[in-house]
Amino acid sequence: MPGELSPIDKAKFVAAKRAADMVEDGMRVGLGTGSTAAWLVRHLGDRVRDEGLRIKGVPTSARTAQLARQVGIEVITLDEAGTLNITIDGADEFDRDLNLIKGGGGALLHEKIVAAASEEVVVIADAAKEVGTLGAFPLPIEVIPFGWTTTQMLVEELLVAADVMGRRITLRMNAGKPFLTDEGNHILDLHLSRIGNARQLAMALNQMPGVVENGLFVDLCDKVIIGYSDGRVETR
Ligand code: 5RP
Repeated sequence: MPGELSPIDKAKFVAAKRAADMVEDGMRVGLGTGSTAAWLVRHLGDRVRDEGLRIKGVPTSARTAQLARQVGIEVITLDEAGTLNITIDGADEFDRDLNLIKGGGGALLHEKIVAAASEEVVVIADAAKEVGTLGAFPLPIEVIPFGWTTTQMLVEELLVAADVMGRRITLRMNAGKPFLTDEGNHILDLHLSRIGNARQLAMALNQMPGVVENGLFVDLCDKVIIGYSDGRVETR
């Protein structure tokens, strides 16, 4: 492990290492997005270089694609791959049922499609990501730019009707401009504090005109690998 890592990065590093060791020769692998997933990509790159591991990676973002190529992983599209043997990705929150909030890095749409195409979905996370109830982390929803203020209003009405606690919605910004996803969409962050019924909310959000996808991953994750800053790793 690089000696200069912060405690949180040590936790991410060891979780990513454990997951990278699960990948077998010949696999088609979904590559997540974010700082934890970036460790995974580097670990896999080490295995490609040192062990001659042959894998095909399907990145969930342009950032991950760039890193994967840099470290020597063959990159293919999801359409070329068809199905994936495994996807390994980070998360912003996970609960005891392995339901997730994702999208802190803005890649939730591609992440959800790639997860849905995978035989196994493994989340790698530091221990701070575990929660009793999802919702303290702002829930990202990807919306099309056209009429996004109308979409925001419709989502606000939905949250009132569903009696969801905490209802502030913010447009994600980047350098003074609306953040753009890899699909050219915007992100609305829903500051909800607590999500009672994640499945219901996820379904209702995706029915709103203008909403492309939401960051609730319900029944998509098979396993969570939790890293600790002292080097311990736990699998759920
Ligand atoms: C990106 C994601 C990330 O997996 C999530 O934000 C976790 O990121 P990090 O590993 O940097 O904490 O969903 O869209």
